[in-house]
Amino acid sequence: MAAPDLVIRGARLAGSGAPAVDLYLAHGRVLGLETHDPGRAHDAPAVEAGGLLLLPGLTDCHVHLREPGQEWKEDVATGLAAAAHGGFANVMCMANTKPVNDDASVTALMLDKARLSWPRGPRLFPVGALTVKLKGEALAAFAELREAGCKAVSNDGLPVHNTELFRRAVEYASDLGLIVIDHCEDPFLSPGAGINEGLVSSALGLRGQPTASEAIQVARDCLLAAYLQAPIHLAHISCRQSVEIIARAKEQGAPVTAETCPHYLLLTEEAVTGYNTQAKVSPPLRTSDDAAALREGLRSGVIDIVSTDHAPHAAHEKETPFDEAPNGISGLDSALALTWRLVAEGALSEADLVRALTKGADIFGLPVNRFAPGDPADVVLFDPNLTWTLTEQEMRSKSKNTPFLNTRLTGRCAGLYVAGKKIV
Ligand code: DOR
Repeated sequence: MAAPDLVIRGARLAGSGAPAVDLYLAHGRVLGLETHDPGRAHDAPAVEAGGLLLLPGLTDCHVHLREPGQEWKEDVATGLAAAAHGGFANVMCMANTKPVNDDASVTALMLDKARLSWPRGPRLFPVGALTVKLKGEALAAFAELREAGCKAVSNDGLPVHNTELFRRAVEYASDLGLIVIDHCEDPFLSPGAGINEGLVSSALGLRGQPTASEAIQVARDCLLAAYLQAPIHLAHISCRQSVEIIARAKEQGAPVTAETCPHYLLLTEEAVTGYNTQAKVSPPLRTSDDAAALREGLRSGVIDIVSTDHAPHAAHEKETPFDEAPNGISGLDSALALTWRLVAEGALSEADLVRALTKGADIFGLPVNRFAPGDPADVVLFDPNLTWTLTEQEMRSKSKNTPFLNTRLTGRCAGLYVAGKKIV
């Protein structure tokens, strides 16, 4: 082995079942991984990581960083601060900024802001708009967006309902090596309702959104992906019906991938009781049966990954009547600990967690560390026993809008390395 410039000693490799290891890094890459040797001396600096878990740097494929245009909610610098402290080495940010990221100049601005604020990482990968101004009418200039650094295109919260236009987008994107990310929501079934149609919406006297709203468009996308043999990534899946449709489509060879978020795995529509706008999110929180199906889907691999859908909104925007509040949960600060809760409860294995929080890099062609020689030295040191409270002060995101605020969490990122450099 060549000479390392950093050694991380004595951590346990998450998901491996193996005893403690020593990880050797050089020039921003993995040199090798060996069984821990407590007696071995090194010329290179060493980090003593006994009692910690070693994870690859995480990837979040779905965040909203609000810059340009809504910097009172978040900006690239604060969003990446939350990402770094949450253990994320790669972050993909959505196009619903103001102006919309439908133009290479907007992508370039986002990347400049990231380089200036966090020059050594986390890495930012903007998602370009699928249509001009997200209006669902004319396709954006995908080739220019790709040249500027976009890895995917999406209309995110404003899904394209014109199936012919959407089909052309999927074909065009696939020819260019871009992946279409789709937020699945039927245009007529209570768009943006922020609450599930069911017992809680009836009790509160609010118009809810049925799960069929999501599942109808999931089915459309699965059929199109299979027909075109072109990839579609399904954003923030929230319900059992969607999981079942995706499972069947995958069995039949449709090139679809899917994500869900910690809040859909851990909360239900009950969280909205009392008109709690912190739990207002699109798609809405569903039932315990839906959450169970999502957990099982994540465990079996039908749901490929966990993303945060980090959607920061200022306190004054959420402190309104329920119908007027914006949808969204600020998620980067808590995603790793919340996903770890599923491991602690036995719903996921450590290996499932690693897949859920890193496979997005494979889907979108981003750097990923699998601890093989030559892999990028993106590493999370995770303390599985540290108990902490998600207070406003603990959150690095500018916006504190989360239904998990003031919740006790166990497990925390104790260090993030991107390309071998310590970020936090
Ligand atoms: O809850 C959400 N908030 N869902 C979306 O799809 C958009 C996001 C936002 O931008 O606030």
